[in-house]
Amino acid sequence: MTDAQSSFPFSRRCPFGPPDEYARLRIEQPVSPVVTPDGGTAWLITRYDDVRAILSDTDFSSDARRPGFPAMQPELRQLFDDPPFVRKDPPQHTLERRTLIQEFTVKRMKALRPGIQATVDTLIDDLLRATPPVDLVEVFALPVPSLVICRLLGVPYADHAFFESRTRTMLGRSTTSEQFSTAALELFSYMNELIGTKQAEPTDDLMGRLISTHMEPAGQLSRQTVLKMCTLLLQAGHETTANMIALGTLALLQDRALLTSVQEDPEVLPPTIEEMLRVFSIADLGPARVATKDIEIGGTFIRAGDGVMPLLAAANADPVAFSDPDVLDPRRDGRHHIAFGHGVHQCLGQNLARMELEVVFSTLFQRIPTLRLAVPVEALPLKNDGAFGLYELPVTWHSADM
Ligand code: HEM
Repeated sequence: MTDAQSSFPFSRRCPFGPPDEYARLRIEQPVSPVVTPDGGTAWLITRYDDVRAILSDTDFSSDARRPGFPAMQPELRQLFDDPPFVRKDPPQHTLERRTLIQEFTVKRMKALRPGIQATVDTLIDDLLRATPPVDLVEVFALPVPSLVICRLLGVPYADHAFFESRTRTMLGRSTTSEQFSTAALELFSYMNELIGTKQAEPTDDLMGRLISTHMEPAGQLSRQTVLKMCTLLLQAGHETTANMIALGTLALLQDRALLTSVQEDPEVLPPTIEEMLRVFSIADLGPARVATKDIEIGGTFIRAGDGVMPLLAAANADPVAFSDPDVLDPRRDGRHHIAFGHGVHQCLGQNLARMELEVVFSTLFQRIPTLRLAVPVEALPLKNDGAFGLYELPVTWHSADM
């Protein structure tokens, strides 16, 4: 791969669609070489069919320890000696994922719903006591998933400022190597201490069950592996969903007709959420892969050891798979979107994320019907980090809503 010129990742200039470069590449060079932040090279994949094919092909590895694996943050290499299971292949990936499957079934998630509803209601009560404008990210979009994942895992929410800031640093594109190491070390030592506490006094929560059933000496997972699993869940559980809450709220505030139809007919909400997931595709950079065999994709020859970035946001905006892809249209049949990935690594928390989003959007606009943006949409600070989002979402409302 000698002709790589463009530096990747690209930035989004508008929240409602992927970086402009994706559409051009999909037409001109759907499998195109780029320079990655670690100075290596990788193939960008922009067509829906190719992205899906790669994500379900065992000849493309998620194992971050393999040479050629594209690191979107060079600093991530520090964690690659013993990566979390999202960056491993079967059979080790299967073993670790299997220990968690029963924690994320639809039935388990349904049982969490009343607690999530109570959390959302309390946060809106607090929000309505504040004087507008307020930053919805800080007071609502981040606290909802943070509280939910803390309760599920058994992590004290009192420590949220600590783990949220370490996560933000670790995912930040402008984070230096030193900042990354410090944040990662601090977070791992915090989680390690929590494992010790739960060993001494077992708890009936996800972390507690994992430790007592699956961690050595009772189970077959090492303490280090359990530590990485829990940290992955804590980070994935709050940051991604927080971004979707902020962006989804923005989408509804910008499209009053859509908001009205969601409010008038509860059946419109689930397909609207699927469309939000597709249009924003916030975890676009999540799935990185490395080829383990020589293989042809979209007419381009990829060698064993080449890094590959199957771009979720590009795939979900491919007009061959979704007509008028930029339009958020709940009436389309868009269930084949791959915002949660595809294949064996498909998001483990998707049922939880969907439920959080449903509770949030069915409650927020019903409780605060006059909610609106407090700044022009162009002034919103876009977060072009490991997961796409908004740093802030200043909103206001009419005092009659109180
Ligand atoms: C994996 C997206 C919420 C836990 C993934 C992947 C994507 C994704 C694209 C696949 C990565 C790959 O193929 O390499 C999202 C989005 C979310 C979300 C868009 C919110 C809207 C959550 C939540 C949790 C979670 C709430 C935890 C409670 C995980 C885990 C994996 C994963 C553990 C790794 C699965 C595996 O490798 O087997 N997510 N996620 N995610 N996600 Fe999510």
